[in-house]
Amino acid sequence: MSQVVKQEFNPKNMPFRRLGPSGLRVSVFSLGGWLTLGGTVIGDPVKEIIKVAFDNGINMFDTAEGYAAGRSEIEMGRVIKELGYRRSDLVITTKLFFGTRKGPNDTGLSRKHIIEGTQESLQRLGLDYVDVLFAHRPDYTTPMEETVRAFNYVIEKGWAFYWATSEWSARDIEEAYHVAEKLNLIPPIAEQCQHHMLHRERPEKEYDAIYRKYGVGTTVFSALASGLLTGKYNDGIPENSRFANHADFFKNTLQSFNEEEGKAKIAKVRDLTKFAETELGCTVGQLALAWVAKNPNTSTVILGASRPEQVLENLKALDVIPKLTPEVLNKIEDILQNKPAPTPSFGRPALDVFGRL
Ligand SMILES: NC(=O)c1ccc[n+]([C@@H]2O[C@H](COP(=O)([O-])OP(=O)(O)OC[C@H]3O[C@@H](n4cnc5c(N)ncnc54)[C@H](OP(=O)(O)O)[C@@H]3O)[C@@H](O)[C@H]2O)c1
Repeated sequence: MSQVVKQEFNPKNMPFRRLGPSGLRVSVFSLGGWLTLGGTVIGDPVKEIIKVAFDNGINMFDTAEGYAAGRSEIEMGRVIKELGYRRSDLVITTKLFFGTRKGPNDTGLSRKHIIEGTQESLQRLGLDYVDVLFAHRPDYTTPMEETVRAFNYVIEKGWAFYWATSEWSARDIEEAYHVAEKLNLIPPIAEQCQHHMLHRERPEKEYDAIYRKYGVGTTVFSALASGLLTGKYNDGIPENSRFANHADFFKNTLQSFNEEEGKAKIAKVRDLTKFAETELGCTVGQLALAWVAKNPNTSTVILGASRPEQVLENLKALDVIPKLTPEVLNKIEDILQNKPAPTPSFGRPALDVFGRL
């Protein structure tokens, strides 16, 4: 990558957190390219979105081999080079599993696909290495030892600094840790999971033990439930919105709006909107983003945006985080009514966060 630095990184008021147990520091809000960058957004608008993110302290940019069949990596790599950012200022993450072709070895987490997929991703990005390489899904047809060894190899080669998981069950993550420990290999440091006000069970309950035992951090996706938590779908599907542009992919969600489940979600969004506006002086989207960022297990919340203005609007969530006092969080629970039950202690007194297993 070109070393001509055209723009210095200025973190402004962005807080940074460690990515899980690692020493890597990521901005509390990061930016991702699913469906947008290289998909519905191509050319100069990709540059505008990435630039506004970088200009406002975002250092982590997330993509995947499977996003827009590789075009997301190509677009993001091109733009980062054109903008002349210093490589060490950036945390670039990509993900392997879904591939860009349909051959028997073009997907999954075999040693072959992890190594070939990494090389192809780097080529599309125009980079020598990524910072974090995610296993985009678990692969139940490949032995865990093969997968852990392959990620270890990629890291030893210098093609990635860390590896991580995405949408793995807590049991899968535990297995990866056990294999890594037994064979003295590098374990994953983070889990990229869906977490938002309407989707809580896995990130808040299932992963409880892996947060405590291994210090795994989350790089949260879809914190706005694909835009639902901005209120934009309260009265139908606006033109040129994600659900309109990808109606086939979201057909179950669209169908649910005619049923009790979907209507109940919209009702909660309306109640949250009123609460956000009257009690916190912010939008419901900003509240939804701040609420996920406030979670102690969240390392970073990956924003998605089809326009630069959305990045700016969403980053105002930084001002909302300090307003989320225990009292405010309790009022939000009263609206949500979906707090996962705590891990059972069978009558033993609760430990605080320092009483890790
Ligand atoms: N690991 C995984 O399996 C996985 C899965 C999904 C996502 N991800 C990662 O996480 C990133 C974020 O996920 P996501 O895109 O689903 O996040 P999201 O925040 O739930 O949805 C982003 C979308 O909501 C709409 N939006 C955002 N801000 C808005 C605003 N202020 N007002 C109105 N609409 C707004 C935009 O869509 P429109 O303007 O088009 O309506 C935008 O593209 C992805 O880019 C990707 O990097 C990972």
